[in-house]
Amino acid sequence: MKRKLSLTLSAVTLAGTLLTACGADTDANTTEVKESPAPSAGANTPAPKANAEKKQVEIFSWWTGAGEEAGLQGLIKLFKEKHPDIEVINAAVAGGAGTNAKAVLASRMQGGDPPSSFQVHGGAELNTGWVAADKVNPLNDLYDSEGWKAKFPKDLIDMVSKDGNIYSVPVNIHRGNVIFYNKKIFDDNGLKAPTTFDEFFKVADALKAKGVTPLALGDKEPWTATMLFENVLLGEFGPDDYKKLWTGEIPFDDARVKKSLETFKKMLTYINKDHAARNWQDAAQLVAKGEAAMNNMGDWAKGYFTTDLKLKANEDFGWVASPNSDGSFMVITDTFALPKASKDQATAKEFLKVLGSVEGQDVFNPLKGSIPARIDADASKYDIYGKTTIEDFKKSKLTPSMAHGSAAPEGFTTQANQAINIFVTQGDVEQAAKALKQAQDANGMKK
Ligand code: GAL
Repeated sequence: MKRKLSLTLSAVTLAGTLLTACGADTDANTTEVKESPAPSAGANTPAPKANAEKKQVEIFSWWTGAGEEAGLQGLIKLFKEKHPDIEVINAAVAGGAGTNAKAVLASRMQGGDPPSSFQVHGGAELNTGWVAADKVNPLNDLYDSEGWKAKFPKDLIDMVSKDGNIYSVPVNIHRGNVIFYNKKIFDDNGLKAPTTFDEFFKVADALKAKGVTPLALGDKEPWTATMLFENVLLGEFGPDDYKKLWTGEIPFDDARVKKSLETFKKMLTYINKDHAARNWQDAAQLVAKGEAAMNNMGDWAKGYFTTDLKLKANEDFGWVASPNSDGSFMVITDTFALPKASKDQATAKEFLKVLGSVEGQDVFNPLKGSIPARIDADASKYDIYGKTTIEDFKKSKLTPSMAHGSAAPEGFTTQANQAINIFVTQGDVEQAAKALKQAQDANGMKK
């Protein structure tokens, strides 16, 4: 099957990212610097080298909380084993989907104080953001020396390339169109996981009648609601037309956008009352504890379930593609790029080498809930969820996630998050459709 990700490559300058930075709720104090070893010297040991002389690599991401941190820590540990002479600074900034990190990164990059390497989603976030702004270096030499061109799927390399150059190294592939559900609740109530919107609403009604919250949502950070909506778009449009929304071939005043908003609105009548006070982990936890039946989330929730909560796939929780999206794979790929202004490029590349290696990917991904980006990783290291997802990726139609920066320029995603956030409380279909169309026009998303 021909798998092709169409990505929006319309140019948006770094200014968009920086504007986002100014408007976002940024708390630079959440930056964690905790991997640097404390200098220690015994009586007979020579005095340690001054820190300034020691090579350093500063890794920037938003992986701090439950379900996020363990994979990164695994990778850092592996790197330290291989490079005991290099000090690792973990400069992660808390907040799901980079809610705060992206703004901190933008101001650091603008201020000439970049990390050695930073997390960025493949697709528009990388290409219309940092590459277009000329802030990152091509990594073609690394791909050649490591033989990576034959080791990552071509679709993925395309997502991190622009004008013939490759700009980042993917560490994983997450799937965004997944509904995780509590198996016990479904079994006890004789229910089957829904695969269509009709089935979803039938199951949701049955659960509601039993006093169970059908759908857990935690939209304290608005991107989680945007994810739910983009999966509805995927279900209503199908993968081919869904992708056309991002290339501008289908305008946001298409009748199916309003239909999707209506469906999304109906889904919102089945969520937990305290959704606005919860983050994604808090929402996933409702399903883990049996306080809600389903949660639509990327499979970092799977990492949270198995790594942090010690639940078992297919025993404690099940999963199914979000309604009408079986056969599609909403791709979210975390990649790492090399800022042009990063001081020690050679040391940064050592980190990228470990991150792009089979060993690195197989340490990181089983903990994170994602599948390896490499095609030659060791599938035996993954549980039943991982193994199934590795196979699903190969046979599905790949669709880029807007909520996670791959499908549309940062400016669009910011405006979409605002529109969806308002929609969750006000439910005004006309207003939301208009706002999305305006965002599409304002961000040059035209064919
Ligand atoms: C996504 C990222 C995932 C996960 C998630 C929640 O943007 O790609 O790796 O971290 O946010 O924070």
